[in-house]
Amino acid sequence: MNDKITVIGTGMMGGAIIKSLLKGGYRGKITAVDIQVEKLKEFEALGVKTSSDNKKAASDADIVFIIVKPGDVEKVLKEISKEIKDKLLVSVAATVPLSFLKKNAADAKIVRIMPNLGALVQAAYTAYVCETNVTDEDKEKVKEILNMMGICEEMDEKYMDAITAVSGSGPGYMSIIIEALTYAGLKVGLPRNIALKCAAQTVMGTGKLVLDLPEDPAKIRDMTTTPGGTTIEAIYQIEQSQIRPAMIRAIEEATKKSQAIREKLNLQ
Ligand SMILES: NC(=O)c1ccc[n+]([C@@H]2O[C@H](COP(=O)([O-])OP(=O)(O)OC[C@H]3O[C@@H](n4cnc5c(N)ncnc54)[C@H](OP(=O)(O)O)[C@@H]3O)[C@@H](O)[C@H]2O)c1
Repeated sequence: MNDKITVIGTGMMGGAIIKSLLKGGYRGKITAVDIQVEKLKEFEALGVKTSSDNKKAASDADIVFIIVKPGDVEKVLKEISKEIKDKLLVSVAATVPLSFLKKNAADAKIVRIMPNLGALVQAAYTAYVCETNVTDEDKEKVKEILNMMGICEEMDEKYMDAITAVSGSGPGYMSIIIEALTYAGLKVGLPRNIALKCAAQTVMGTGKLVLDLPEDPAKIRDMTTTPGGTTIEAIYQIEQSQIRPAMIRAIEEATKKSQAIREKLNLQ
């Protein structure tokens, strides 16, 4: 596949997607666009074509990614809607539903996605939802691109707020877990670099056990727990710290926040 891709918005997520495609050996031309021209220098250095003209870059592309904040989506779509007729428009904006995208880019073939920063290391989880006019061939293209960033799954749109809360924002929470594990390592005398590496690799390895074996987390917990051993000693302490209710409350509130942002910005 060598379709021309334009990425509008090269911030944290746009940048991650571009770098992921480059790492994955994407063969088509990629154009990076941002109103912050200084952000584009980094992509120029990576050999990516850059532009500050959304309209022209959209017109030159086969597939357009829009990766700006939810409140900026309408403005960008108004600018480029004529240029993306019959093209794939991939929106990465959290909370912005297909209905709103369709209202502002009626002639495009729209896919709404929710990736995460794991894209930077080809380990994203990306959920995607397609408008009815997206063909099977289009879907294959989208999947090919998203699989370069990690793994992807087609989703019912009603789950997108929950996906945003669990995996879209997830690297933020997992960093706290890794940090906590690192601090715990420091407390019991590990050098900082060793504590950090063993914490991060342990979180990654546990994720891989769940995905690759595939195995239930409870089974993995049992596999590490020997009678009267060290793991059960730690688990006894963890269970008293209410980590599960804390995570459930956090995800519930993050999910509600998507709805609140959508209502505040009138993105229906
Ligand atoms: N960050 C994540 O982990 C993550 C994960 C999943 C989904 N997302 C979604 O991805 C989108 C972008 O998030 P982000 O964290 O990457 O934000 P970001 O770092 O602020 O990047 C957005 C970039 O787009 C630029 N921009 C704004 N209006 C523009 C316009 N009219 N034309 C061209 N460029 C424009 C912004 O410039 P200014 O700074 O001047 O506004 C900024 O450089 C959001 O909708 C978010 O929900 C993010």
